[in-house]
Amino acid sequence: MTIDLPIDSADAGLDRDCTTLSRHVFQQLQSFSPDAQDLSAIMNRIALAGKLVARRMSRAGLMEGVLGFTGEVNVQGETVKKMDVYANDVFISVFKQSGLVCRLASEEMEDPYYIPENCPIGRYTLLYDPIDGSSNTDTNLSLGSIFAIRQQQGEDKDHKATDLLTAGRGQIAAGYILYGPSTMLVYTIGNGVHSFTLDPSLGEFILTEENMQIPNHGSVYSVNEGNFWQWDESIREYIRYVHKTEGYTARYSGAMVSDIHRVLIQGGVFLYPGTLQKPEGKLRLLYESAPLAYIIEQAGGRATTGHIDILDVVPTKLHERTPLIIGSKQDVAKVESFIQNGY
Ligand code: AHG
Ligand code: MN
Ligand code: MN
Repeated sequence: MTIDLPIDSADAGLDRDCTTLSRHVFQQLQSFSPDAQDLSAIMNRIALAGKLVARRMSRAGLMEGVLGFTGEVNVQGETVKKMDVYANDVFISVFKQSGLVCRLASEEMEDPYYIPENCPIGRYTLLYDPIDGSSNTDTNLSLGSIFAIRQQQGEDKDHKATDLLTAGRGQIAAGYILYGPSTMLVYTIGNGVHSFTLDPSLGEFILTEENMQIPNHGSVYSVNEGNFWQWDESIREYIRYVHKTEGYTARYSGAMVSDIHRVLIQGGVFLYPGTLQKPEGKLRLLYESAPLAYIIEQAGGRATTGHIDILDVVPTKLHERTPLIIGSKQDVAKVESFIQNGY
């Protein structure tokens, strides 16, 4: 007598055609040209940084000197966590001697970091938020990393990186890594949005969903309502509207990568509006809002300041901030209508 054993679903998953991240980039570009090879290699390095950060986080509570603050304040005037510094350095070290990226610009560094030995050949710049949602670090909650790749324009001999002060539509690639119950990498190179899940036993990000599409509408609104009395009246009116209307529910984790990932999958809207004291809000354009806007637009959603599409905003400085309203088309339009028309 033979007994049919149920196929373990985890094994069944591995039995599928396992598409790795680097292979996927080649498939997307339908080419093995030098540009395609560069982009595939860059994505591979970003994935390596993600794996290193995820590994450290997964053991953080077991190691000395991983959690907590450094005692420093960064260029944004925010307290710095040890994990912010670690992750910032990891992204730099994976690109050293890669020949790929000449400059890295991050939330944690006032000026871009140059890797001179890469510059003659590596015409790319990596912009990144090494740890997004740092306030979740010490409580073992979801965190993220955000990245964008831009092609360097001009020589940048004086190391001022002024060519980075251009609209987000010029991004070549963008995405995020989500450190949740599993580690995921979501990216676009302008041809749809694709998600990968880290299989720790393989040490590889494996394709889990191709051409993700954000629903046109969702029930979630995601905003820090603790700022209610700091907002403009139009945002307060919008929040009163969702309170009064059936079918809305609030979700806010303190890490926009996880909140926006939820919105990408289930629909809804994430907001970080300006406040009366800080009309530009909190989020940084070049390495937070613009990469996420590229992802959400590519998935069929929208991202705006309330007046202009995030991808059309031209920054005047590296660490510029913008208000952000991002998510499902219908839900973003509703917030926009409150801002522009008052209803
Ligand atoms: P970071 O940790 O990179 O400074 O970013 C945190 C951001 C974002 O991820 C999150 O949605 C928001 O700041 C939370 O800010 P509040 O605590 O003001 O809500
Ligand atoms: Mn952030
Ligand atoms: Mn950060």
